[in-house]
Parts: sequence; C-alpha cells; structure tokens
Amino acid sequence: MDIVEAVRSRKSIRRYKPDPVPKEILSEILAIATRSPSAMNTQPWEITVVAGEVLDKIRKGNVEKLASGAAPNPDVPYKPYEGIYRERQVELAIQIFGLMGIAREDKEKRAEWGQRGFRFFDAPALIILSADKSVDESRASFDIGAISQTICLAALNYGLGTCIEDQATMFSEVVRKFTGIPESKCMVIGIAIGYPDWDFPANKLESKREPVENVATWCGFD
Ligand SMILES: Cc1cc2nc3c(=O)[nH]c(=O)nc-3n(C[C@H](O)[C@H](O)[C@H](O)COP(=O)(O)O)c2cc1C
Repeated sequence: MDIVEAVRSRKSIRRYKPDPVPKEILSEILAIATRSPSAMNTQPWEITVVAGEVLDKIRKGNVEKLASGAAPNPDVPYKPYEGIYRERQVELAIQIFGLMGIAREDKEKRAEWGQRGFRFFDAPALIILSADKSVDESRASFDIGAISQTICLAALNYGLGTCIEDQATMFSEVVRKFTGIPESKCMVIGIAIGYPDWDFPANKLESKREPVENVATWCGFD
C-alpha cells in the first residue's frame, strides 16, 4: 500500500469481527513497527500482546471496575482538556454518538458506549506499550507515540484495523493482574487490533482535522 494512501485511510476502528489475528501477522507488524525512530535509538517501547482468555479476563475486570464506580488509575496521569481542545473532544463525541444514534441525554447508552472502550471494542487482540520507569516519561511517550502510529499503518497492510486507546490501560491494576506487567514499567497506551466490522456505524466516522493554515506557521518563506 502506498504510504500516503495508508496515512489517509487509517482511522480508529471501534468494532471488530471476532476472527483472531494470527500471532505470525502480529509479529510481522511489530517487526516492521520497531523500525520506528526513537530518541538516541533508545527504543524504550516494551510490547505486551494480549489475546484469548487473558484478554477476556482483562475486559471482564475492567467492566467490573466500571460497574463498581472505581476511579481509573492510569500510570500516565492526564488532566482534562480545555478550550479548543475540549471543543474538539466534544465534537468527536457528537460525531460518534450521531452515527450510533445515541441521544445526548441518554445516559445509559452513553455509559454503554464508554464501556465498549474498556472492552477494547471487542478486538481479538490488544497491544500494550510500556516503558521502563527509569526512562523520562515524556521522552518515552514521544517514542511510543511514534511506534503506535507505525503499528497502525503497518496493520493496514494485513487488512487490520486499530484503535489507539488510553482507555485500554486506565484500570492499570486490572491489566497488571492478568499480564504480569510489573510496577517498574509505565503502561503508556494500548492499541486494539483486529479485522474491522465495516458495517458498524462508528467505523464510518471520518474524524475532522484543522486545515494546515490553522496549525502551521511558516518562517523564511516568501
Ligand atoms: C493517545 C491517544 C489516546 C486515545 N484514546 C482513545 C480512547 O481511549 N478511546 C477511543 O475511543 N479512542 C481513543 N483514541 C482515538 C482518537 O479518538 C482518534 O485517533 C481521533 O479521534 C482521530 O480519529 P482517527 O483515529 O479515526 O483519525 C486515542 C488516540 C490517541 C492518539
């Protein structure tokens, strides 16, 4: 696949077919993606690939946590978005809920949607990217961001879809319990991966982008 076509066609997939992804394919994707650049070639990514019963146990554990009203406990803390960033976040929710036919005031359906994310949108596999806590967190996050996009692009070559997900590692204690990822590692992000269910309304989403003139400043050009 042409690289520009791949970048343009990648999108977050929020429902998958149940078909498992062969380990060999996941391994090939990771072999490609580990060619990603990293600061001083430190390659801080530590990759945990989860499927089958273990993944189902994490899904169940996450859903139980949600039902209990427990607060998420991610390794990388985050602060709420403000201003234009909050506006873009809300716009995304409006687009998704519109496609899914979920009314703004329908708290039950909104909660149900939230739960899907914690179930990794029922993907047959999840890739968790962690870094040793000795590595500066913002540096590690940058490099893990680079490999994340490369994983998502490489996945397209195999007919696979992905969704990069903060939600995936938000209940860090659940993920640790079933994967054995130790406390000495910072779980930065998860990527749901599988064969897209193209009939699912939210998978038809075309997320918006600011035009380049709004985000780029040109210096030294005529
Ligand atoms: C760091 C990061 C965290 C994300 N976390 C979530 C998440 O928890 N749940 C979700 O549904 N999508 C998540 N996404 C997907 C974004 O919502 C998505 O990339 C964005 O809306 C642009 O849409 P696109 O990926 O379809 O181009 C995340 C993406 C990134 C890069």
